[in-house]
Amino acid sequence: MSIVGARPNFMKVAPFARALRGYAVEHVLVHTGQHYDHDMSKAFFDELELAEPDVNLGVGSGSYAYQVGQTMIEFEKVLVSYKPDWVVVVGDVNATAACSIIARRHQARVAHIEAGLRSNDWEMPEEINRVVTDRVSNLFFTTDSSADENLLREGVNPEAICRVGNIMIDTMAYERERAARLDPIDFIARNLVAARPVAFASGGYLLLTMHRPSNVDDPGTLAELVGVLLELAETAPLIFPIHPRTKLRLEEFDLWDRFVGHPRVLPLKPLTYREMLRLTLEARVVLTDSGGLQEETAVLGVPCLTLRWNTERPVTLIENGGTSQLVGNNPTRIRDAFQMALTQRRTPAPPALWDGHTAERIVKRILR
Ligand code: UD1
Repeated sequence: MSIVGARPNFMKVAPFARALRGYAVEHVLVHTGQHYDHDMSKAFFDELELAEPDVNLGVGSGSYAYQVGQTMIEFEKVLVSYKPDWVVVVGDVNATAACSIIARRHQARVAHIEAGLRSNDWEMPEEINRVVTDRVSNLFFTTDSSADENLLREGVNPEAICRVGNIMIDTMAYERERAARLDPIDFIARNLVAARPVAFASGGYLLLTMHRPSNVDDPGTLAELVGVLLELAETAPLIFPIHPRTKLRLEEFDLWDRFVGHPRVLPLKPLTYREMLRLTLEARVVLTDSGGLQEETAVLGVPCLTLRWNTERPVTLIENGGTSQLVGNNPTRIRDAFQMALTQRRTPAPPALWDGHTAERIVKRILR
């Protein structure tokens, strides 16, 4: 049984489901329903050829306690009814922690894909989810050596740690050619949320995603970010697919018109995986607080400013051979790093085993 709940899970479970197809194994896919909009969920199932979930828990939005609690209550019923041998969870969203606790409680074995990542930032709900999930997991699939070291430091049995590479890069490898064939003018025009002439020049735009509570939930912080991002947009137009949380906050803090109404900003609905990859491939600089984009830009060699003060993915940083700089939400730091990013060499730097074959390694290990 594998679990998805929020957008970043879909591209991690799609290759796992595909890799399982060659084996005589029954696979039950459970969607907790944390993300429920078409743009945030169904569009990904269609594009990534992921089968409809067998079960949808219909949890929806709410506080951390509501989402985790409701997921546990609903998931327990499903688990007891299906009695899976293994529950496979991915990443660090609320579904990951909630379902792994219940699985362990009912003696199913838990495999965590993307285990061992640590930001050591306990203000992030994702850090709580990572630590809790790893505490109750039986098998740990890791992306790089720093994750192995974190787990060993926390007392995990070395034999249960299995370095397999990055499953999200399986999806990138699988989708890359199809993404490259998309016409950006076409999907940008279709997804615009404010009337704007559509210009697209390869290598001539900045690409922004931003949704972390630490960046968007405080009006002062968000206003400062908007100010500096508009300055950067003078260098190159800023393409901005807007996460629902960020849309709500921009409206609530009266920043929508100033940012989204600016002629140098191309504000878009949330894009599909393939559309986003198309834009990432040729962005001059990516600015993001997403975990996945830090990894994708590292593999592609695209300069990335990570709008966070820390990262659970140190392998993506320039000093470790990646392409990203940590800039937090400090305007001076963002301006300085941006200048550096403009001159950065575009050197693809995939870490070991980020080769498109991670899911096969995972399936073989679970079956063994
Ligand atoms: C969640 C994950 C985060 C991940 C992100 C990717 C946790 C703790 N966080 O954060 O790790 O990077 O997903 O997107 O699990 N909303 C909609 N439509 C939807 C989904 C959400 O309008 O389909 C709205 C909700 O009503 C809510 C806001 O967006 O107001 C935030 O959603 P929520 O599920 O709380 O967390 P994310 O910020 O998306």
